[in-house]
Amino acid sequence: MNIASDCRQNIVLIGFMGCGKTTIGRELQQRLGYPFVDMDQIIEQRQGESIPEIFARQGESAFRDLECRLLRELSVSPLLRQIISTGGGIVERAENLQVLKRLGYVVWLSAPPKVILERTSKTRNRPLLQGDDPARKIRELLERRTPLYQSVAHMEVDTHGLDFGEIASGILESARYFFSRMESASR
Ligand code: S3P
Repeated sequence: MNIASDCRQNIVLIGFMGCGKTTIGRELQQRLGYPFVDMDQIIEQRQGESIPEIFARQGESAFRDLECRLLRELSVSPLLRQIISTGGGIVERAENLQVLKRLGYVVWLSAPPKVILERTSKTRNRPLLQGDDPARKIRELLERRTPLYQSVAHMEVDTHGLDFGEIASGILESARYFFSRMESASR
C-alpha cells in the first residue's frame, strides 16, 4: 500500500454469513498482493474437519474457542499486512471485540436479510442456518450481532447491488486514508 510503517496494516473483513467476505477478500488479495487469511478455512485445516462436522461433533462453543484462539494468534503475528476474513460469529465473544479493533482496518460487509437468505440457501455449509426457519434465525442473529459489528467497524459497506470490484476499490481507498492518518499520528 506504499506506506512505510511497522504498524499493523491488515484489512479485516467482518459481517454476517453470505455478505461476501471471502470473495471480496480474494479480490483485495489480488489487488494488494497481501496474503489472504480465511479464518474458517484455517480452523478446518487444523481440525481436519469441515465447519459442519466441527459443529456436529464438538459443538458451537468449541468452535468459538478455536476461533477465539486463532484471532489472538493473528493479533500477535509478525505478518503485519494481511487480508483477514473472519467467520460471521466472530463478534459473539466479547473478548474478540478489542482484539479485532487492534488487528487493523475493520470493514463490516452487510446486506439486507432477504439477500442473505437468498445467498446462504444455495449451500448447506452453514450449520446455524440448517433449522426449519432460516429466515427467522437470520433475523435473530442479525438483531444481536448488528450493534456488535457496528461497534468494531471502521467502515460499513452494504454489498447489495454493488459489484465486488467496486466494493474492493472503495475499501482500498478508505484503508489507504486510514493507514496514512495513523502513520502521521504516530510520527
Ligand atoms: C458462522 C459463520 C460461518 C462459520 C460458522 C459460524 C456464524 O462463517 O464461521 O458456520 O456464526 O455466523 P461465514 O460467515 O464465512 O459463513
